[in-house]
Amino acid sequence: MFRVRGVTRVFPSRLAPVHALRGGDLDVRRGELTAVFGASGCGKTTLLRALAGFDRPDAGTIHLGDTLVVGPGAFVRPENRNVGIVAQEGALFPHLSVAQNVA
Ligand SMILES: Nc1ncnc2c1ncn2[C@@H]1O[C@H](COP(=O)(O)OP(=O)(O)O)[C@@H](O)[C@H]1O
Ligand SMILES: [Mg+2]
Repeated sequence: MFRVRGVTRVFPSRLAPVHALRGGDLDVRRGELTAVFGASGCGKTTLLRALAGFDRPDAGTIHLGDTLVVGPGAFVRPENRNVGIVAQEGALFPHLSVAQNVA
């Protein structure tokens, strides 16, 4: 379902560039449940954001099914990927009810 090859993301920084992803590969087949784990700052969120299309890698390719969504000259916008993300934190309004948050 997801095929990630050589995905690379470097964030500019005043000190030294931050290599959030260095040529990462990942395959997730339909129906599989995959966990990505590692130390804080190792690039997990950057990878998920790249899959959803919230961030654009500097190099590498991502296929979603048969569709190339990230690649040289290719970028499918997030609203056209049908990929959902549930944020780890900070995504709820504490003063609203569950139903109001969903709405
Ligand atoms: N928008 C950004 N600008 C600059 N650096 C970033 C940005 N997003 C993430 N980083 C850096 O990239 C690295 C990976 O971050 P992240 O993907 O959030 O890690 P994780 O989710 O595994 O904790 C960290 O060093 C982080 O500080
Ligand atoms: Mg994270």
